[in-house]
This record gives sequence, structure tokens and C-alpha cells, in this order.
Amino acid sequence: MAQSIGVIGGTGPAGSSIAVRYAYLGHRVVLGSREAARAQGVAADLRERLGGAGANLEGAENAAAALCDIVVVATPWDGVEATVRPLSAALAGKVVISMANALYRDGRNMGALMLPRGSVAEHLRSAVPEARVVAAFHHVPAKELGMVGEPLHSDVLVCSDDAAAAEVVSALVGEIPGARGVLAGNLSAAAAIEGMTAVLINVNIRYKTRTSLQLSGIRES
Ligand SMILES: NC(=O)c1ccc[n+]([C@@H]2O[C@H](COP(=O)([O-])OP(=O)(O)OC[C@H]3O[C@@H](n4cnc5c(N)ncnc54)[C@H](OP(=O)(O)O)[C@@H]3O)[C@@H](O)[C@H]2O)c1
Repeated sequence: MAQSIGVIGGTGPAGSSIAVRYAYLGHRVVLGSREAARAQGVAADLRERLGGAGANLEGAENAAAALCDIVVVATPWDGVEATVRPLSAALAGKVVISMANALYRDGRNMGALMLPRGSVAEHLRSAVPEARVVAAFHHVPAKELGMVGEPLHSDVLVCSDDAAAAEVVSALVGEIPGARGVLAGNLSAAAAIEGMTAVLINVNIRYKTRTSLQLSGIRES
């Protein structure tokens, strides 16, 4: 049976795209918010987009999203720790996906912030040490992620200190047509992945596009 997926901060572009994509793929999805009514409104709009395929998508408070089998944290980076800490009992032992990037804008240029623990994912792990934190989806543009009828045409870098949890997330990525999860090391790799997202956004700005990452040379085993 498909795992349920909760999205904390699901009302933004990133979280709602993950929510609609996995609801379309048949998962039960709980799109979370600090305000249940806001989540219910966004979920209703997405259900309408999905037509008959959207019955398994609901909106609720973040705390309800945290009860799902797999939980995605899709808030801005500076809200992550304060958001997940009160949910630590629900998140303990679960695969928790960190997709937040700590970036800043300087005119037309994006830069990466250097965080004390290295990455947003490592801050999340320090706030909820019993969660199986996996960093993924940082560099996937929300728009393409949310276009459920279209293949994604992207590799998705996945890293974690929990190898089994990373495999779970890599397989979840692989459910999206055209997407491939690429195992990219321990959670310490998250800093580079989050930072690289600033570089990709700069490329997007310069070339007026939305790039996707595709690595060559990986032989399928
Ligand atoms: N946008 C993209 O294309 C994209 C792609 C990959 C990764 N990301 C990353 O994913 C994360 C979310 O991106 P986004 O563009 O969706 O961001 P966003 O729209 O700014 O925020 C997402 C949601 O987080 C909640 N939120 C806002 N401030 C918060 C706070 N201080 N504490 C707790 N919750 C807060 C809000 O929901 P409620 O008010 O309903 O609670 C908001 O709708 C970011 O860290 C970003 O770097 C974004």
C-alpha cells in the first residue's frame, strides 16, 4: 500500500507541488499549514486541478501532516526548527524530508547562507534527533514538480546518514515519471546541495529558464 505523505508548510509553491504530485500518484497526502483553514483552501484548489484523482488530498494543521508515514518539511529555512520541534514526538522514527534552502538575494543574485550546523537539514536533525532526516528536492523547481501530467526530466540529489531512509526517498523520487533519485552521501552533503541551488537559480535568472539537474555516467545497478 502507498505510504501516506504529510507536507509541513504545504501551502507554499514547493510544498503544494509535492502534495499534488504525490496525490496524483496515488498516495494519501495531508497538506499542512500553521492554519488549518488555509491548508484546506489550498487542498481544495489542488483537488479541483486533479479532478477525480484528488480525493486522497486533504488540508490540515502541520501537526496532522506530521502523523503521516513520510513527512516533508517545506517551510522557509528560518522557520524549520521552530516548526518541527513541537512535533518531535510525531516525527520520531519517521523518514522526514528536508527540502529547504538557506538562501539570500542580493539584487539579481542568489547566495547561500552558511549555517552553524552546515545545512538546514542538519538543523532540522538537531531539532528532532530521533527522526530519520533525508535531504532531497532542494533544486527541483516547484512549477515543474507540480505539473502532474508531465514527466519531471530531473535527477534529485538525496542524502542522509540513514542509508535505508535515503533509499526510501530515492524510491519515492523514482515514482515521478522522468525523475531519478541519486544517492549523494551523508547528511553533511546537504550544505553543498542547498548551496548549489543558489547557483542553479542564478543560471535560471541569467538564461530566463528553469534548469533541471541531470548527471551523466551513473550506471544503473
Ligand atoms: N519554490 C521552489 O521552487 C522551491 C523548490 C525547492 C525547494 N524549495 C524550498 O522549499 C521551501 C519552501 O519554499 P516555498 O517557495 O514554498 O516557500 P514559502 O511559500 O515562502 O513558504 C511555504 C509555507 O511555509 C509556511 N511558513 C512561512 N513562514 C513560516 C515560518 N516562519 N514558520 C513556519 N512556517 C512558515 C507558510 O505556510 P502557512 O502560513 O500556511 O503555515 C508558507 O506557505 C524553502 O525553504 C525553499 O528554499 C523551494
